[in-house]
Amino acid sequence: MPGLRHAPATLRNREPILLALQRILPPATDAAPRLLLEIASGTGEHAAFMAPRLPGWIWQPSDYDADALADIDGHARESGCDRIRPAIRLDVQAPAWPLEAADAILCCNMIHIAPWSAAEGLMAGAARLLGPGAPLVLYGPFKRHGAHTAPSNAKFDAEFLRARNPDWGVRCLDTEVQPLAERCGLALAEVMEMPANNMVVVGRRS
Ligand SMILES: C[S@@+](CC[C@H](N)C(=O)[O-])C[C@H]1O[C@@H](n2cnc3c(N)ncnc32)[C@H](O)[C@@H]1O
Repeated sequence: MPGLRHAPATLRNREPILLALQRILPPATDAAPRLLLEIASGTGEHAAFMAPRLPGWIWQPSDYDADALADIDGHARESGCDRIRPAIRLDVQAPAWPLEAADAILCCNMIHIAPWSAAEGLMAGAARLLGPGAPLVLYGPFKRHGAHTAPSNAKFDAEFLRARNPDWGVRCLDTEVQPLAERCGLALAEVMEMPANNMVVVGRRS
């Protein structure tokens, strides 16, 4: 559809993220559907690509930027997938979210492009919505044991993220993300290396 926003990186990372989701998510069917809440859907291109390839999963896209919602819905329409719900406005930092439960939560590329309070809101909300054992799946760059995993991530952190907003930054999985998740009742279950020095991180509600 002409005029829809595009995020070129989604074309490069959507396939590896989908493969990870296909392994992580429990099976669902049209007769016994499950709900995936996507946080920070951005352009909606991940939803449009992945939802049709995850049978039985109802995909609920969201973003806190109200201007993003029309693009997300536009890409969903283009996909022809009737399991993508209309996008909703959701700010992870809000004390209550416009949804009470989800079978899985996916959040790609948000916690480094937002203040730390967004990570705190995400974990608290995930703990409220997910049932025991249900996954919170994060995708993006992370530090390990306080250090960047690649020079390109260090450059991105200093020259793009922190230069634009000192409250943004690549978060450390071991000293920041995991302790926060555990304080919120989510156990770090899996870490997967992904192309271009990114990771998929799976937390599960204890
Ligand atoms: C870099 S984009 C990532 C978009 C998409 N997930 C992707 O990987 O292409 C970051 C997204 O985080 C969203 N965001 C930032 N702060 C947020 C918040 N407090 N609650 C929900 N979404 C937020 C922005 O609106 C933006 O769409």
